[in-house]
Amino acid sequence: MILLDGKYTASQIRAELKAKVDAFLAAGHRAPCLGIVIVGHNPASETYVANKMKACAEVGIVARKIALEDTVDEAELLSCVTQLNSDASIDGFIVQLPLPPHISEQRILSAIDYRKDVDGLTAENIGRTVQGLPSIVSATPRGISELLCRYHIPTEGKHVVVIGRSNIVGKPMAILLMQRPYLLLPKMSAAAVGNATVTICHSKTQHLKDICLTADIIIVAAGSPGLLKADMVPEGATVIDVGITRVDDPASPKGYRLAGDVDFENVAPKCAYITPVPGGVGPMTIVSLLSNTLQAYEIHR
Ligand code: GUN
Repeated sequence: MILLDGKYTASQIRAELKAKVDAFLAAGHRAPCLGIVIVGHNPASETYVANKMKACAEVGIVARKIALEDTVDEAELLSCVTQLNSDASIDGFIVQLPLPPHISEQRILSAIDYRKDVDGLTAENIGRTVQGLPSIVSATPRGISELLCRYHIPTEGKHVVVIGRSNIVGKPMAILLMQRPYLLLPKMSAAAVGNATVTICHSKTQHLKDICLTADIIIVAAGSPGLLKADMVPEGATVIDVGITRVDDPASPKGYRLAGDVDFENVAPKCAYITPVPGGVGPMTIVSLLSNTLQAYEIHR
């Protein structure tokens, strides 16, 4: 069993991104700039945003945080998005999710100019990905693709089971895996994934265990701790765990720990490759946001 070390791989990619940014600066260009909009004080969101800002600083991307109270109304947030769309000093921006319940995420995301949508969540970017056009792909699927490529895990002709159908992970992941490779992600450093046979499963799927037992690669993005059990995993499979649920843990100094969607202890011995939680997909997601920002910068600089 080989651990897919997202923490190490992400640090390598950050070094590559920093070299690129340094070359732009040396050529007299301004630094790339990422806008990060956060609404309210969701503790997990605040941690993610802090991690994203730290990663930006490491590679020389300027991060501009726009923090709004959760009393902000939809019109004010829309006007913030409009301003960022037209601000030429910002290459891309994200609106950290979830938003407070009185604001429609769909209306906010729809207002983002797709050329600055470095989270890859607009209908334009998802549609372009589906059609095989150059697009910005959301950070987690991009990060998983990079991880598979850098560990030389082929997807061609393989059966990949994706558990989870979100717009941010499950759906775009399935699209990337089934595509003809090399059409998408023009700026990706590694070869793109593709040519897989993909099954998307979700909370209403019947016979999940039987389906998983026919997989070469299982990607779990269900947000359900311990969902994937050892008896669902064939010997020699590759397992990618996207889950990062906070569960109470009085023994931990923070009072919680991060739980993946995989019963790691029992699943890992059966796997050829598996991602740990933490230190697997999480760091790859963050570095992929930086890759997306540089992609937007290179196109529109
Ligand atoms: N909330 C959890 N993950 C993400 C993400 O990748 N992007 C945004 N905008 N919000 C999130």
